[in-house]
Amino acid sequence: MCGIVAYIGNKEAYPILIKGLQRLEYRGYDSAGVALLKDNHVNLYKKQGKVSDLENYAKQFDTSGKIGIGHTRWATHGLPNDINSHPHTSMDGKIAIIHNGIIENYDSIKEQLISRGYEFKSQTDTEVIVHLIDDILKKEGVDLAEAVRLALMSVIGAYAIVVLSSDYPDQLVCARKSSPLVVGIGQENDFYLASDATPIIEYTKQVVYLNDEEIATVSLKEGLKIINIKNQEKSPYVQELEMQIESLEKGGFEHFMLKEIFEQPRSIRDCFRGRLNSEEGWVQLGGLKDYEQRLIHANRLVMVACGTSWHACQVGEYLIEDLARINVEVEYASEFRYRNPIINENDIVIALTQSGETADTLAAIELAKQKGAKVLGITNVVGSSVSRATHAGSYTHAGPEIGVASTKAFTAQVTVLTLMALRLAHIRGTLSRSEFHQLTAELERIPDKVQRILESNDKIKEIAHIYHQATNALYLGRGSSFPVALEGALKLKEISYIHAEGYPAAEMKHGPIALIDEEMPVFVIATKGTSYEKVVSNIQEVKARKGKIISIVTEGDVQVKELSDHYIEIPETDEHLVPLLATIPLQILSYHIAVMRGCNVDQPRNLAKSVTVE
Ligand code: F6R
Repeated sequence: MCGIVAYIGNKEAYPILIKGLQRLEYRGYDSAGVALLKDNHVNLYKKQGKVSDLENYAKQFDTSGKIGIGHTRWATHGLPNDINSHPHTSMDGKIAIIHNGIIENYDSIKEQLISRGYEFKSQTDTEVIVHLIDDILKKEGVDLAEAVRLALMSVIGAYAIVVLSSDYPDQLVCARKSSPLVVGIGQENDFYLASDATPIIEYTKQVVYLNDEEIATVSLKEGLKIINIKNQEKSPYVQELEMQIESLEKGGFEHFMLKEIFEQPRSIRDCFRGRLNSEEGWVQLGGLKDYEQRLIHANRLVMVACGTSWHACQVGEYLIEDLARINVEVEYASEFRYRNPIINENDIVIALTQSGETADTLAAIELAKQKGAKVLGITNVVGSSVSRATHAGSYTHAGPEIGVASTKAFTAQVTVLTLMALRLAHIRGTLSRSEFHQLTAELERIPDKVQRILESNDKIKEIAHIYHQATNALYLGRGSSFPVALEGALKLKEISYIHAEGYPAAEMKHGPIALIDEEMPVFVIATKGTSYEKVVSNIQEVKARKGKIISIVTEGDVQVKELSDHYIEIPETDEHLVPLLATIPLQILSYHIAVMRGCNVDQPRNLAKSVTVE
């Protein structure tokens, strides 16, 4: 939540900041702002709304300057208006700050500062930091970096900040704790700071991911210097970015979400590339190798995640329990962290997160570690906080996901969990050689099958047109299609604002059936498999109440097609792999419905991609 970007060097900062903010807009889009240093004066421009609103507004002003900071906001404290927008400045306007995170003890700090004569302009928690820095600078006679360090020692909460001061015109000071911050080292003695690497990639591939409680100064004269909150010097660990610039652009698609849906044949293949060979009969996940024995002897695996990633965990539970016969439990990270869960050394906790930055998931990881469990992470973002907080893990290799609603990251997570289930089953001998071969060979065919589903885009669009004015929708599935139903419902509600619920098909008669009438679209995953006949009965129950059935069926199906008002066929596959296929038409359907309703599919209201607050 909230994206921050900053530049110092010999180039004009403003275009770099604006482009960077556009790349980071998925992290929040309530308001945007920049502060630029020019002739020892801080010029501040901020505006409620999108980065484009800021750009339009700033056109009338001087935006030149070679050092600047920028912010795109997801509001936590204070309304999304111009005043609460970042950057925030000291009373004399000399110091400006951008912040991603939450200062939990801002109230008490604010009171103290007010008693010392400080006046607050905004309702944000952030403003306390800038006044605190100003106060320390004036009282202690220390330099900017030291003032930032001392200020942060009084702060409880999460932060990634960048501070600019007209008294220090050749440097920026930044720091992080529980919110991400990347330092890009440019080729012309310049530096780029950002919440993630997306604003940096086109300028440099050399980056340093700051660790928690580290404070970095980037200076034209002295380069990059890192200390920690205890004032100990740290050597920067420079890494090479693997990200490609094309992956951050729409590539001819109208929206990132559509592009990302259509990328799934490739992203799923990238996810299993080098990890699977059905001919030679092996599956491996290099990052988990050292933990395989622990995994197969674990008392249980506890999966923690939020939102769509939680749905992927639920698919994982079906797969690992069924194929590898290991006990799995799935927990919302936000519940797990606060309910004093019973976790011991023989449990393995697996954290799933696309962004690798979700605050609740990070807190769940810390709790599990405190309780002595080994924690594995599955994430899409290399160098993210989760990848560093866990003992080991696997990347999903889906490539950057810009659309706020998760699509290709979900199928990549399910692919990694499928590989994990297969690997564990192989070691434990719970699958016969031929079953293992069949499943691995079928997994290799999944990208082509996804491609075939994408060819139904036009037909799915027609169905979307029929239902795009619905006010409610129900999604039903059984077995591993139940989490697919949950995911289908989440996709629809988050981008089209239609109320939608996912249910296990058999549970419908215990309540939701009361909602069904001739207006209610019911999306049912009714593919061939063990519970096919049962799902057919559930469809009959809906039909008897005049509900509209839109089914996802296996190619060649007859029975469900006849019962359905509309159907979408998906290629036949092994039952264990159905989630990888059945999810796709539901994503496409939600996408078209949202577009037809005039919604901003890439940036749905109130949402942000990276939920770094609890
Ligand atoms: C929905 C969606 C969210 C995320 C959730 C967790 O489309 O994307 O529900 O899945 O915020 O995010 P990560 O996976 O980054 O931990």
